[in-house]
Amino acid sequence: MSPFQLTRTLPEDATEAALRADVQGGLTAQPKTLPPKWFYDAYGSELFEQITELPEYYPTRAEREILLARSAEIASATGARTLVELGSGSSDKTRHLLDELPGLHTYVPVDVSESALTQAGRALVAERPSLSVHALIADFTARLALPPTPGPRLVAFLGGTIGNLLPAERARFLASVRALLAPGDALLLGTDLVKDESELVAAYDDAAGVTADFNKNVLTVVNRELGADFDPEAFDHVALWDAEREWIEMRLRSRTVQTVKIPAVDLAVDFGAGEELRTEVSAKFREAGVRDELGTAGLELTHWWTDTRGRFALSLSTAR
Ligand code: AVJ
Repeated sequence: MSPFQLTRTLPEDATEAALRADVQGGLTAQPKTLPPKWFYDAYGSELFEQITELPEYYPTRAEREILLARSAEIASATGARTLVELGSGSSDKTRHLLDELPGLHTYVPVDVSESALTQAGRALVAERPSLSVHALIADFTARLALPPTPGPRLVAFLGGTIGNLLPAERARFLASVRALLAPGDALLLGTDLVKDESELVAAYDDAAGVTADFNKNVLTVVNRELGADFDPEAFDHVALWDAEREWIEMRLRSRTVQTVKIPAVDLAVDFGAGEELRTEVSAKFREAGVRDELGTAGLELTHWWTDTRGRFALSLSTAR
């Protein structure tokens, strides 16, 4: 068996069909919505990388601080022989964890981006000849089938991306993660924490306008993939804190009355002046809530680590 394998579980055309369905459903709904997963074409992924380096956007740095401080504890608590990383992207933040897991046999990066998986996977096996890499092209919100790798398994879902799922989607997602695990296997989960509104809003509405460009990029994706005629400059970037639901919402606010044509789904979408399209929810968490949601999914929270400023948490939980 070669040290690098790639398995596609997504049909080549699944992405476009899913985008069509999301655009058709979301832009005919009231209020209008689009799911955040469509931000991440090549340009959107590059903008996200830039976001992670902005002074206002603390989550990436806070999570890295925790990973650097706690990788050895994660290794001894889990004894992982297989590390599965959901939404692995470039696998950058995982390198340190990989280095600290002494018994690790197989790394399973899971992502929808084949190019990111191939690049990262080949680099990793070149650096670590004893590590098997079995990359999976898959949508982690759908049912996953993992290759038959040795246990104990550790599934990592980092970056706070669980916050981009709505509560019902989150519950389904955690149950599906639990289904991948045997009793004693573990989940390492990154969650951004509830904090001062001004700090949260600034992280999603940076002074340089990178997040605004990232938000508007979803319109460019719909233009390219579905032949739509959105003018991104006819929308304003909006980031607001919903104190009741404890999540940040990103929206695009139409500057004027306008009609947008989307030929691939045979739609003409009317926007009123000031009408908003919700493009992302980014939920912020508290320890008790995370413990509850994990518990409901059959996962028992065993460790809770935050950065020194208490902005972000990594939790470790064990399948019952
Ligand atoms: C994908 C969860 C890391 O919600 O903070 C960054 C995406 N959106 N700025 C987040 C995002 C706007 C991000 N994560």
